[in-house]
Amino acid sequence: MKTALIASRSGAATAAMAPVVNFLTSPQFVPENPDDTEVCDFTLGNPHEPVVPGFVEAIERQLAPRHHRWFAYNTGEPATIAAIAAGLRERLGLPFADADILLTSGAFAGLAVCLATLADPGDEVIFNSPPWFCYEPMILAQGLAPVRVKVDRQSFDLDLGAIEAAISPRTRAVIVNSPNNPTGKIYPPETLQALAELLARAGERHGRPIVLLSDEAYSRVLFDGRSFPTPSRFYPHTVVIYTYGKTLLTPGQRMGYLALSPQMPEREALREALFVGLLTTGMAVPNAVLHYALPELDLLTIDLGLLQRKRDRLVGGLRELGYTATLPEGSFYVLVRTPVADDWAFAAGLAAQKLYVLPGRVCELPGYLRLSLTASEAMIERALPRFAQALNG
Ligand SMILES: Cc1ncc(COP(=O)(O)O)c(C=O)c1O
Repeated sequence: MKTALIASRSGAATAAMAPVVNFLTSPQFVPENPDDTEVCDFTLGNPHEPVVPGFVEAIERQLAPRHHRWFAYNTGEPATIAAIAAGLRERLGLPFADADILLTSGAFAGLAVCLATLADPGDEVIFNSPPWFCYEPMILAQGLAPVRVKVDRQSFDLDLGAIEAAISPRTRAVIVNSPNNPTGKIYPPETLQALAELLARAGERHGRPIVLLSDEAYSRVLFDGRSFPTPSRFYPHTVVIYTYGKTLLTPGQRMGYLALSPQMPEREALREALFVGLLTTGMAVPNAVLHYALPELDLLTIDLGLLQRKRDRLVGGLRELGYTATLPEGSFYVLVRTPVADDWAFAAGLAAQKLYVLPGRVCELPGYLRLSLTASEAMIERALPRFAQALNG
């Protein structure tokens, strides 16, 4: 709805968010009763099973104040920062410094702060398509210009030639998301090395470095014993964006962080600007209790063995039925080709059977469905016969 009340950048963000909002509010895609045991919900990365053991206890242990400053403003409890940096050093094998970690209220906040801090109105930010459906609205909300580059349709790897061609003197940042939502792809070291070289060349050419925003929301959701090559190993101007919402499957508890690459030049100035960005973006940090609980929470993860078994059962079952389905290397998502061109109509047909999935067009992939592996095992078993029926009916 157009109104003179709203800033044009907000109007543009709202328009870009419309496919998601239409989906989430469309009565045909909203179960009348989400607790109906017949409902199979594959739409979003939301929990459908009990929370990770230890999660509630870790928070409970921090609820009662131990001194009068317990609930004071807190932008980074030193013990928490130290624990996060130690975990990152161990997992990624890079010398992340405590001072280069900034706590955020999730990856949403981390990305918003980076966009607000790095680019001026009208500057360009490149993202890869199919994308997480909030990149474009978030870029537009900051008054920036989104530049979409399609990944290779066969391999889902980055199209480096297309990224290079999309770079202009106004390019300030490139967003890369590995493991990827929605493709499940983990970009290999060779791709990241070549990306680093092309970004360095482009930065030189235009006389200003381009920042790589590495959205690592799913960096701990890996299958088949895979490791995760972080882009921050290859390109010094990288900011890692992380959220605990995926590793712990608790997206409603807002916690995450930004981490500057250990080789980031001009780190002091960037650190300071990002810190102010956190404040001016609305004090986008986790609540105090989560600060205190984070050293314990950082050690927990969802049951990845169970997630992989669900992946194998769902993908195996769908392929047996005749569907074309991807086998993700990481992240929560399986992509399934729809037997008809209209993914929205196909998803609506499934929803009529209480089987809820995301039509691909919501994440710029018409002709596909995106299924979240956070659905329960029971939902997968109940869903497969309905998928069979949809194929034959
Ligand atoms: C790729 C990607 N980045 C960022 C986010 C935002 O994560 P959070 O809600 O935990 O901040 C999501 C959530 O779905 C995501 O899939």
